[in-house]
Parts: sequence; structure tokens; C-alpha cells
Amino acid sequence: MFANPSAACRPYRAPLATLFAAALLATSAGCAGGLDDPDRFTETPSASCAPGTTGPSILQAQCFGCHSTDSKEIGAGLDLQAAGLPGRLYTTTSSSACGSVPVADSANPANSLFLKKLTASPGCGTQMPPGGSLSAADTACLTDWLTKGKP
Ligand code: HEC
Repeated sequence: MFANPSAACRPYRAPLATLFAAALLATSAGCAGGLDDPDRFTETPSASCAPGTTGPSILQAQCFGCHSTDSKEIGAGLDLQAAGLPGRLYTTTSSSACGSVPVADSANPANSLFLKKLTASPGCGTQMPPGGSLSAADTACLTDWLTKGKP
């Protein structure tokens, strides 16, 4: 994998699975879409996150397939790549299928639709990512990222 020229686009240290997904993305996207933007991944790692992971790195590995700027039409139009996260989720309204509610709930961030969708009882549609589930560490990491990122 390290012989792959796209490895130069690798923007952060991450476990092998994440690297593999990032390499796949970089290969298919040719580093477009700001995935190689160094600022994107320089936030201080949270204690809840597995070593080498951050909220944005989990989104990139697990969600961009259907929720990037280019792929968001697959995932109910929800863009988890464009700038302004996680704050933007507090002013983003969900699809009508998910009740047209804010994707993140400022009154009770831990109760946000965004986090419910990571559980086996998402309330609408299917658990994210479809066909699987995040590890406990990744769920905790995203929970921390979302709640601490309340504007
Ligand atoms: C394989 C494609 C795919 C992946 C990967 C995926 N999603 Fe989705 N997502 C969808 C689809 C399709 C919907 C709409 C149907 C539904 O709600 O189940 C959706 C809906 C959502 C919604 C509700 C949006 C709304 O306005 O109704 C949230 C929140 C969400 N996804 C979060 C995530 C997160 C976080 C991840 C990564 C951990 C993720 N998704 C990974 C396909 C995907």
C-alpha cells in the first residue's frame, strides 16, 4: 500500500482499516474534495477516541461513501464532509422520513438524531453505517465530538 503514490495524500495517522479506506477514497477521488487538507485532522484527539482516530477521521472512513459532498445524494442529502462540522449539524434539518428535526439537538446533544442513527434503534430508517455498526470506541468518539462541538 505504501508504494501507492496516493499514500502521499494520507493526511493523518490512523489504524490500518482507516488507512485502507482512506487510500481507497484517495485512489478513487484523486485527493479531491480537500481530503488532504491538513487542518481537517489536526484537532486535539479526545480521550474517548481510539488512538489515532478523531471524529472527522471516523466520518471519513465510515460515512463518506454516502455522506460526502459528492455522495450525499445517497444518504438523504446529508453532507458530513463540507466545512463547519459538527456545529452545522445543529442547524441542519433532517429528511421528512426522520421527522424534519435538527440532526443535532442543542437542547440535549446526547439525544441527537445523529447519535440515535448509530444505534440499533435509530427511530427512522436503518442503523448507520448500513449493514454494520460502529465500534463502541468510535461511537463514544463521535458522541464526544458532537456534544463538545455544540456552537
Ligand atoms: C452505504 C451508504 C451509507 C453510509 C456508509 C452511511 N449512511 Fe447514513 N444514510 C444512508 C441512507 C441511505 C440514509 C437515508 C435512509 C435512512 O435514514 O436509513 C442515511 C441517513 C442518515 C442520517 C439521517 C439523515 C436524514 O436527514 O434523515 C444520518 C444522521 C446518517 N445517515 C448518519 C450517518 C453516519 C454518521 C454514518 C457513518 C457512521 C453514515 N450515515 C453512513 C446511507 C449511508
